[in-house]
Amino acid sequence: VSLQKLSYAELRVTDVDKELEFLTGVVGLEVKSREGDVVYLSCGYDDYVDVVLHPSGTGVANFSIQVDGYDDLDRYADRLHQEGISTSRASERIPGIAHSLIFQLPSGHPMELVTLSDFTQTHLHPALSSQNHSISGVNPIDIDHITLRTPEVKPLAEFLRNVLDFRISEAFSPAPDVWGAAWTRVGEYHHDVAMMTASAPGETLDHLCFTMLSIDHIKAALDSFAQSGYLTETGPGRHGVGGNLYSYIWGPGGNRYEFTAEMPRMINPLAPPRIWTDQLAVFSSWGALPPESFSHGS
Ligand SMILES: [Fe+2]
Repeated sequence: VSLQKLSYAELRVTDVDKELEFLTGVVGLEVKSREGDVVYLSCGYDDYVDVVLHPSGTGVANFSIQVDGYDDLDRYADRLHQEGISTSRASERIPGIAHSLIFQLPSGHPMELVTLSDFTQTHLHPALSSQNHSISGVNPIDIDHITLRTPEVKPLAEFLRNVLDFRISEAFSPAPDVWGAAWTRVGEYHHDVAMMTASAPGETLDHLCFTMLSIDHIKAALDSFAQSGYLTETGPGRHGVGGNLYSYIWGPGGNRYEFTAEMPRMINPLAPPRIWTDQLAVFSSWGALPPESFSHGS
């Protein structure tokens, strides 16, 4: 396996300062650096950038998947070129990132494959003082996955599978050969990048999701959010697809965030995707219906 995980997501926000107030003051992320109105934020045990904020607009500015090494960037550059997709390279474009392979998906989403600049950290350890972050308050342990919005879900999922070696974990198919949503993975966790049908032109993001330790961690987060005036859109609940726990909340910058726990591991890499046809069963296995606002992304 050469693709590892979602490394960071770059989001456009309508108001960087308000979003920062929410992400640092309430969610507990840490500002690593700032260049003008572009802000680099980190969460969890490690020091790596997880979220980058860009001023103006909403939705996805870019997202990146971490790969093992430089050779992988060469190999995927070749694959992309065979598909007629042009690529560019950058070094140290983001704090903590060594090399980036930059390209655009057929859906129009900018994407990167990246290598980390520091390989000395072998694993995340919550109780070692050498870690740069302490887990306190709401602070999520990492970013978990990104769910994109696109007019054409199935071709995007198949592109990620065929060209970039993603696996399709599950899909929602409301009609034969039509996919309303798909959940894809690069490693063992159920999804790293998911995609849903856009409800309006220009919609690029459904949500960015943070990993929480447990339902109790989510509960503490939601109490903190409520105390600060940020109310949930829906949840907590347990998704049908994936089976992970969810709770959704909109940030003040105009994008939806999810807080999840219990993301399952897919222990058989060769298992074919499970196809769902009942949209309500996809959303919740406990019975809650998605709210009307849930049909929109950003
Ligand atoms: Fe999600």
